[in-house]
Amino acid sequence: MIKILGTGSYLPEKIMTNHDLAKIVDTSDEWISKRTGIKERRIASDNEATSDLAVKASEKALEMAGLKPQDIELIIVGTSTADYSIPACAPIVQAKLGCGKIPAFDINSVCTSFSYAFMSAYSILSTGFYNNCLIVGADTYSRILNWKDRNTCVIFGDGAGAAVIKKDPSKKGILSYIFGADGKDADLIRIPVGGSKYPGQDPSIYKYDDLYFQMEGKKVYEFTINVIPDVAERLVKQANLTSNDVDWIVLHQANYRIIEAVAKKLELPLDKFIVNIDKVGNTSSGSIPIALDEAVRSGKIKEGNKVMAIGFGGGLSWGGFIVEW
Ligand code: UT7
Repeated sequence: MIKILGTGSYLPEKIMTNHDLAKIVDTSDEWISKRTGIKERRIASDNEATSDLAVKASEKALEMAGLKPQDIELIIVGTSTADYSIPACAPIVQAKLGCGKIPAFDINSVCTSFSYAFMSAYSILSTGFYNNCLIVGADTYSRILNWKDRNTCVIFGDGAGAAVIKKDPSKKGILSYIFGADGKDADLIRIPVGGSKYPGQDPSIYKYDDLYFQMEGKKVYEFTINVIPDVAERLVKQANLTSNDVDWIVLHQANYRIIEAVAKKLELPLDKFIVNIDKVGNTSSGSIPIALDEAVRSGKIKEGNKVMAIGFGGGLSWGGFIVEW
């Protein structure tokens, strides 16, 4: 059904290490490394917004795909930190890339955005109305983090990844998928002020912290550890595969301990998992496509491989699929 023609990624130049963070908040390299597996992350420069990261990743994906911006028929950007509340990020990416006046829209499912964008692109291509799609996952969480909150600011980094997919009847494409959301726990990951409920024009009714990203890490961790290993196991079964048939697994890089738990559940060695959390931290929507691109460019993921990708995060939401590369 689809072929992945190319991938690309972009990480801002500035590196922030755990030691750098220890100078800002009450934390340590030891705590962050042990609890998350993160050693460093990238931070966008003052003149870089999410669309800039997305464009750089997309240019690389287009180059690998051997396509020009004018060849692209559809753009979907997964992000929860678009340049503006309005307009969406995708039309800005479209114009900056120099694409035609093609449809371009965002999907915001927080850290699950790329998975949702990928499935949406796949579904749209399956209708037959479009032949190809540029799918991007891009976020600039450094702009929404509360740099006084050690519970959250040590976890995230900025970055973008992209993939170009094309309709191809000779390929199987998606072998299985599981998507879900549980809105009763929506407040576990949030920015309370700035939306339609609390627009934030009246500073007397909100606290400084409420303007920034908040996460109840422990509760989110419990949800993740309960749901994601099970999703991984069900994806394999749904595809009529055994876990050994899956060549590579790319999980949202939220915490190395979550990757270990999925490896245990599937009884697979950790070297089947693409891991870059140590270098990039949690890049939210960028997480899966950046890891995929690194694995493609290092020669790990090859044509014909079965690759399982699972995203999870705010909403709460989760979404995974197995795709034949
Ligand atoms: O991307 C969306 C999906 N996100 C996730 O899946 C994230 C899931 N959650 C996690 O990965 C983990 O919960 C965290 C990495 C966020 C936190 O790890 P934890 O093992 O759950 O720690 P905790 O929040 O239970 O905190 C344990 C202790 C607390 O101190 P007390 O109360 O035990 O004295 C915290 O105050 O660690 C303290 N703490 C820190 N200490 C040093 C919290 N953050 C830090 C810090 N440095 N940065």
